[in-house]
Amino acid sequence: MRRGYFITFEGLDGSGKTTQLRRLATALESEGQSVVTLRQPGGTPLGDRIRGILLDSGSESAVGPIAPATEMALMFADRAQAIAEVIRPALAAGSILLCDRYTDSSEAYQGGGRQLGSQRILAMHAAACDNLQPDLTLLLLPPLESALKRARRRNQRHADKLGVDEGRFERESDEFYRRIYDKYEEIAAPEPYRIFRIRDDASIDFIHTRIREVVAARL
Ligand code: TYD
Repeated sequence: MRRGYFITFEGLDGSGKTTQLRRLATALESEGQSVVTLRQPGGTPLGDRIRGILLDSGSESAVGPIAPATEMALMFADRAQAIAEVIRPALAAGSILLCDRYTDSSEAYQGGGRQLGSQRILAMHAAACDNLQPDLTLLLLPPLESALKRARRRNQRHADKLGVDEGRFERESDEFYRRIYDKYEEIAAPEPYRIFRIRDDASIDFIHTRIREVVAARL
């Protein structure tokens, strides 16, 4: 069976990766490619329930504070299910799989942000994901100051919305986001082929064009 192509999108909150993922999916589909999209956490019935626990800002009052190691384990429980239910079947069918966040997010957020360290995340990746790696990761990481500004702006937008959910991660401090940023840089440095880092703080159209170019070159 022909193996498809596995692309992940990574970056801080508010980096615009979800918009870019949708635009890429539309562009590839219009070329006649078979495209499957997925977001993490979530994307399967079980994963959506796990997402509810992880991101709902009300959940801490419902279940008590979530310990960092629990958070890590829930992210990987979600991911293991997505691999079994969506990712492996899509790749086996020869589709292009576009995934909004994957293990690099766990390494950046739980490993860096929550300070669990990379080793524990990579051990979980081996155990839960059989080390399945993307063929290409598009990392939207502009310079630190503008990345932080975007994350903050998104925090504010969420906070302004009445009765907002999924705010737990976004209430985190600048220090938390700085550690995530540094970890992303650390992850990207030794893997320039898998991880294509987009440093520009440019328009959606400009970044979309760059993404199209790199994907076209790889496919
Ligand atoms: P989401 O609303 O999907 O945000 P975004 O559009 O920024 O991806 O929420 C996902 C949140 O979960 C985001 O703050 C990052 C966090 N996260 C982790 O901490 N670890 C992980 O492994 C994943 C997949 C996400």
